[in-house]
Amino acid sequence: MTTFTVADPEQMAALGARIAARLEAGDLLALNGELGAGKTTLTRGIGEALHVRGAVTSPTFVLARTHPREGAAPLVHVDAYRLSSALELDDLDIDFEASIVVVEWGAGKLDGITDSWLELDIVRPVGGVETEEGVEPRIVTARGHGERWSDLGWLGAPLP
Ligand SMILES: Nc1ncnc2c1ncn2[C@@H]1O[C@H](COP(=O)(O)OP(=O)(O)O)[C@@H](O)[C@H]1O
Ligand SMILES: [Mg+2]
Repeated sequence: MTTFTVADPEQMAALGARIAARLEAGDLLALNGELGAGKTTLTRGIGEALHVRGAVTSPTFVLARTHPREGAAPLVHVDAYRLSSALELDDLDIDFEASIVVVEWGAGKLDGITDSWLELDIVRPVGGVETEEGVEPRIVTARGHGERWSDLGWLGAPLP
């Protein structure tokens, strides 16, 4: 487990890019955190770094959006807010093996989907102060599940 601070949306996107550099087909990333925590901002950073087709936006009105890539595994961006279990996630028929999958609101809904995934909790600190532009640091806690994500040393280095 590793915990660090992300100062602003640009750093959140940079964190996404850092994670993207490690992602390959079959990888699964679960993002937890309240509405407005920064899950989509992080996913946007991942999408930009992966040069996916189509803008990464909040997928709230579709459960999953696939962003193709030229000659590489697509990014599948899932909003699991209205899903109650791994069974329902499984029902979406996502090709997990051939895709990079990012699940917002994924906590507790990934059991049995794969044997390894990276989980990030994004928290707005209680009593934090937002600037006029709405910028406020976030506390990010990363947990690796399975062999693939057993070493997270690369994740917590200071962000640009
Ligand atoms: N440190 C920060 N990290 C990420 N987003 C931040 C930060 N500070 C302010 N924000 C703002 O918070 C909002 C996060 O929204 P979003 O990424 O859509 O959240 P979620 O997908 O978790 O609901 C954005 O408007 C973003 O500009
Ligand atoms: Mg979102």
